[in-house]
Amino acid sequence: MSEAVSSPEFDMAEIPSHVPHDLVHLCDFRSGLGSYPHEQLGGLHQGPRIFYSPISHQNRGAKNKGAWILTKAEDIRYVLQHPEIFSSAQPRAQAMGETWKLIPLEVDPPEHLNYRQLLNPLFSPAAVKLKRDAIRDLAGELIAGMASKGACEFVSEFSEIYPVSIFLTLLGLPRSDLPKFRSWADTIVHSAAGRGPALLEVKQFLSDLISERSKSPGEDLVSLITQFEIDGSPISHEEMVGIVVMLFIGGLDTVVGSLGFQFRFLAENPDQQQLLRNSPELLPDAVEELFRAFSIVTTARVTTQDYEFQGVKFKKGDMVTASTILSTRDPDEFAQPHDVDFSRSPNRHNAFSFGPHRCLGSHLARLEVTIALEEWLARIPTFSVEDGARINAVGGGVLGLDCLPLRW
Ligand code: HEM
Repeated sequence: MSEAVSSPEFDMAEIPSHVPHDLVHLCDFRSGLGSYPHEQLGGLHQGPRIFYSPISHQNRGAKNKGAWILTKAEDIRYVLQHPEIFSSAQPRAQAMGETWKLIPLEVDPPEHLNYRQLLNPLFSPAAVKLKRDAIRDLAGELIAGMASKGACEFVSEFSEIYPVSIFLTLLGLPRSDLPKFRSWADTIVHSAAGRGPALLEVKQFLSDLISERSKSPGEDLVSLITQFEIDGSPISHEEMVGIVVMLFIGGLDTVVGSLGFQFRFLAENPDQQQLLRNSPELLPDAVEELFRAFSIVTTARVTTQDYEFQGVKFKKGDMVTASTILSTRDPDEFAQPHDVDFSRSPNRHNAFSFGPHRCLGSHLARLEVTIALEEWLARIPTFSVEDGARINAVGGGVLGLDCLPLRW
């Protein structure tokens, strides 16, 4: 199997005694990914269906740092759809001595459903459609500002600003808060050491905002969340914090990373740009295919019991990695998985996950990418990657590009 994604720079955990030696392979989703990580990680499909890596990109409550890596879409779906065996309830904030959790991500069913029932209507296709004009204004303004320059560094000049601006709009916060949120977002996305402290600052800011909006609610998302009730009782302030912080980080590096890979593909394939310019009706299918081909999330679950799966014995407390990058490039489910084909049909990918924790913001994310592409193609002529640009994939749980210099 491919060892191309091994990363000796991270500490390795001891191999637990229940892990067969022949199932141990180094694999990490954080480093050594090169510029084209999807093709590189896709090499794992030539190896064992399930294997154990003594390094992991996450360490959520698991006893050791290693993790089982599932490579097949079918198995990844199974794990994501069986939260009673594969739990998502390992609050990351606990490592910082905090008691709050990201809601709904770090809550298992059946409790999880209480929150999704409250949140789903706020992120339904109809609800996000109401934000279309505001999102289009933000995208149009950012792109218009750089159109005459003939070049840009797409990640820092567009994709990192766009989702943060949208978040502020949803929360009813003024534009003057943008630099502060951008700086937090930048630290959370780029600095492993700074992520924790930045997250605590965001949490404090949002906690104060929740207190304010609880007293004098408006029409914005935070005000609506302050009015949530479960079984007739208001949810707690801590639950509100967990929800609002989740909404901030859920739509942050995911959107930045997705846009980076998607726009690089178009920059490297001018014929595909032209296709979308000539036939804008292809855009919905193109966006879906771009999400499939450039999936970026590798999530994880912790087993609640000893469990035998596909002939492999998991022990209670083992971490199991479910990578949407691997499932969306699985040749058993997608013919020619490394080809980007806007006419691919069917295209039942899981870039937004499966099961109870399926992305709450998927309709918003689709709208954000669709509008970004529409506004870009309308204002920028044929574009390409700057000659000699050195672009590397970064991330772990969420992949992105470290930069994307474009010119037109
Ligand atoms: C390209 C953009 C996005 C991608 C690829 C993406 C992907 C995902 C994935 C794979 C999950 C499942 C995680 C897991 O099972 O552990 C998820 C969950 C979630 N996402 Fe997104 N996401 C995106 C954008 C957004 C946006 C814009 C929001 C803002 C509302 C958002 C909010 C959430 C929330 C709240 C969850 C947790 C859902 C639950 O636990 O029930 N996401 N997302």
